[in-house]
Amino acid sequence: MAKIDNQADGLALAAAGRKHFSKSQALQPKAHRLIPGGAHTYAKGDDQYPEQAPAFIARGKGCHVWDLDGNEFIEYGMGLRAVTLGHAFEPVVEAAHQQMQLGINFTRPAKIEVDLAEAVIEILDGADMVKFAKNGSDVTTAAVKLARAYTGRNLIAICGDHSFLSIDDWFIGTTEVNAGIPQVITDMTLKFHYNASESLRALFDQYPGQIACVVMEAEAATPPAPGYLKQVKEMCEERGAVLIFDEMITGFRWHLGGAQKFHGVVPHLSTFGKAMGNGFAISALVGKREIMRLGGLDHDQPRVFLLSTTHGAETHALAASLETLRIFRERNVVEVLWKQGERLRTFVNQSIVENRLEGFFEVIGRPCNLVFVTCDQEGKRSQAFRTLFMQELIRRGVIAPSFVVSFSHSDVDIDRTAEAVYEAHVVYRKALDEGIGKYLDGRPVKPVYRKYN
Ligand SMILES: Cc1ncc(COP(=O)(O)O)c(C=O)c1O
Repeated sequence: MAKIDNQADGLALAAAGRKHFSKSQALQPKAHRLIPGGAHTYAKGDDQYPEQAPAFIARGKGCHVWDLDGNEFIEYGMGLRAVTLGHAFEPVVEAAHQQMQLGINFTRPAKIEVDLAEAVIEILDGADMVKFAKNGSDVTTAAVKLARAYTGRNLIAICGDHSFLSIDDWFIGTTEVNAGIPQVITDMTLKFHYNASESLRALFDQYPGQIACVVMEAEAATPPAPGYLKQVKEMCEERGAVLIFDEMITGFRWHLGGAQKFHGVVPHLSTFGKAMGNGFAISALVGKREIMRLGGLDHDQPRVFLLSTTHGAETHALAASLETLRIFRERNVVEVLWKQGERLRTFVNQSIVENRLEGFFEVIGRPCNLVFVTCDQEGKRSQAFRTLFMQELIRRGVIAPSFVVSFSHSDVDIDRTAEAVYEAHVVYRKALDEGIGKYLDGRPVKPVYRKYN
């Protein structure tokens, strides 16, 4: 445990060493004038961070980033969990660079499309065939389309406890931010609860022969109850529906073979992205040949227009992915993610006890994918306390919308983070005791899924 011997010194330093964000702040109005939301991912937006935060990143190396003003931070969750090895990770950059020099997009496929397909199929139990794309939403939507074509049914059952499956209408229509999405689309998506087989069974009973697929993460913040995933698969098979696991987060993180390997339940289709390219734009739809082949040229069923995109197989992203997967295998990356996450969790839990924050601050999830929950004096989930905690970490050189580690988070990085967390917790405790108004510098963050700004 990193003992915080110099707590008082640390606090004083943090207070004295307040960071300046003048260059970042000067660019913010322009970003919002030119780009709706000021960014290309809502999760990166200004409303997700404290007011005093780095608004733009200039560069990154490993798990460290530098903002426009030259402030350095240890970063968590890097690239929305895509950058699993580290920023500017040399072997991956080099592999992409070498491939780029050979050309990135031709009128016919490149051999590397087959090479990566072979590598992915070798790693993933659920993969007889694979189709690549650029992002997770496209492959998950493609899985839904394939399931509808395969079953001849329209309805989709999604796990309502999983926070994000796709930017597409079939999913976003079910959230608060459903403007622009026809009700008829939303009506075709039904929700069930995680770890509650009876809630899925009720949907199958209510809509017999109408549900094309069940779409869910095998695991998010809560682990599956013993036998739950197996029951879901059995129910899908009994009722003639396709089981789709969205492995955007769990893939290459829970286990090299994803959550399906970790839990020993192989879905009919599954989707991957994020970790498989260390931040390069690459995603994959994989699944059973019998279903996947509907997107192919060797059957007499109606053809499924499956992920035919201009950029889907850019060679440098495929090269980056091949190299990323090689490193994952050779350097036991998944083991490191779990180990470093566990190291951090132990420190944070100790700090929670020392600062009497039980019931107010909690770290949840698997060590490879830790997130934190912030609550107010009444024990209710609080965006204001989330903001305060992030604000205090940022003051101490840590950007942490979550505690999701990468392969580049060294013991030193984790220990430095542990000190920052301890000090942030001291402030958190004071804010609980004395009122948050005294400590929070600016407005609180807001949930992404909300109807109005
Ligand atoms: C579980 C899950 N599914 C799908 C997606 C969509 O992936 P992408 O942003 O690459 O479209 C995400 C993205 O955060 C995700 O977390």
